Amino acid sequence: MIAGRHGPSGPSRLDTVLVVDFGAQYAQLIARRVREAHVYSEIVPHTISAAEVAARAPAAVIYSGGPKSVHQPGAPLPDPGILDLGIPTLGICYGIQVVAQQLGGSVDRSGRGEYGRTSFTPTPADDAGPPSSVLFDQVPPRFDVWMSHFDAVVEAPPGFRVTGSSPDAPVAAMEDPQRRIYALQFHPEVAHSDGGQQILKSFLYEVAGCRPTWTMSSVIDAAVASVRSQVGDQRVICGLSGGVDSAVAAALVHKAIGDQLTCVFVDTGLLRAGEAEQVEATFRGQFDIDLVHVEAAGRFLGALDDIADPERKRKIIGETFIRVFEETAAGLGDARFLVQGTLYPDIIESGTKDAARIKSHHNVGGLPEDMAFELVEPLRSLFKDEVRAVGEELGLPEEIVWRQPFPGPGLAVRIVGTITAERVEILRAADAIVTEEVRRAGLYRQLWQSFAVLPVVRTVGVQGDERTYAHPVVIRAVTSDDAMTADWARLPYDLLERLSSRIINEVPGVNRVALDITSKPPGTIEWE
Ligand code: XMP
Repeated sequence: MIAGRHGPSGPSRLDTVLVVDFGAQYAQLIARRVREAHVYSEIVPHTISAAEVAARAPAAVIYSGGPKSVHQPGAPLPDPGILDLGIPTLGICYGIQVVAQQLGGSVDRSGRGEYGRTSFTPTPADDAGPPSSVLFDQVPPRFDVWMSHFDAVVEAPPGFRVTGSSPDAPVAAMEDPQRRIYALQFHPEVAHSDGGQQILKSFLYEVAGCRPTWTMSSVIDAAVASVRSQVGDQRVICGLSGGVDSAVAAALVHKAIGDQLTCVFVDTGLLRAGEAEQVEATFRGQFDIDLVHVEAAGRFLGALDDIADPERKRKIIGETFIRVFEETAAGLGDARFLVQGTLYPDIIESGTKDAARIKSHHNVGGLPEDMAFELVEPLRSLFKDEVRAVGEELGLPEEIVWRQPFPGPGLAVRIVGTITAERVEILRAADAIVTEEVRRAGLYRQLWQSFAVLPVVRTVGVQGDERTYAHPVVIRAVTSDDAMTADWARLPYDLLERLSSRIINEVPGVNRVALDITSKPPGTIEWE
């Protein structure tokens, strides 16, 4: 059995800020902003008890925004005892309303609500004086903030003073410095709030006394120590996919335990151009890691012979991958630990994720439950951008650290129809041109993904006076924040022109190039 989640979820010797999650996406953004201020933060559910908070001894607590009203039946409310712990606390949006309600102020439908940008004025200490709150020491006397609320605090709780207002929220900020409880009606974590990050920093550094010690090198040190104590002198294996998560996880574990680590790279024959060489050069060459390269293209293509159905393709690839990995792992018999590149958003979402299944995702790391390994997950407290920063700090090459996401089943789900070695060749060559030209245009990092798709149909063309009957290639390029939704990228015409002419001239078997202009929804990013 794969062992359950294990180990500390964050480096305990750092100051930790607990972000209490009241729903929606706000909590993740707050946690990221706190980390950008170099203070470690973790998201906790609103059901956490005061005793559990006290046991964690955080440097501060932040109450996030949320989609509900505190007056709604079933609204998420935290244990009121948390506000009695003496821990510096910041309530944001819904959080200010929670603080007001639990400490004896009053929250009401003020009538108008505020949505979007509005101006905020910190209350001066006296008529011409400095702002009355340390939170606003470093920001202008009036600035724009992002609001999104219907209810508002109409009366601050006893002991609190009002420290700022907006046109429709007379209590847009309040605090009780004695109890170190602060609250804001606006969202300092969103980019549209001018000075928002500065306000968060003032709370973290001035109120909570946090030190800015959460840096990529402290992350690496903590992960190295934790991996060492978890695995001792035992052997560890790690599946490499060519993607950034498994690469950074492998490099971190290697830093921790050196040649106790063996990496396994399964070449499915469905990878992007240069991927296998890149993995070889980086891990065997640069890092001198023990690397087993399993050449399995024939086996995968054999298993996929004549299969056109997308779900069957995914299933076959997933199963074949597991078989190959199991056989390889059996040859490395004494390894007891398996590295997984699990990220923090996976941890936050697991358990709450109940979305309808659109596609059965095959994760390269998604190995079966009955494999006798204990998991090593050195990235489980990190967001994707932090994983990239760690990768850079560890010296991984830019091509790996900044590589666009690539689906586990690889090029197979970009060939719409049955898969043959020749079709994989065509798609790989076209895809390499897309990547090269998008990079050359300086757009590679801005795009979430940009790639080629090969629908297995043929169309008539004319090349050098001759009739051709060959495949079209479709260019797919999207912008996105998290792949849940995406927009088709408005690629410049001259880039599209170069793509069209290079693909048709350089890739045999292609006589037409088309552009996919579908957002997600209604489309998905991949074609299958
Ligand atoms: P879709 O096509 O569902 O893709 O809009 C969303 C994101 O997920 C990637 N993707 C996968 N990743 N295994 C993966 O690890 C898979 O089976 C898989 N299918 C899609 C896709 O590239 C996009 O970034």
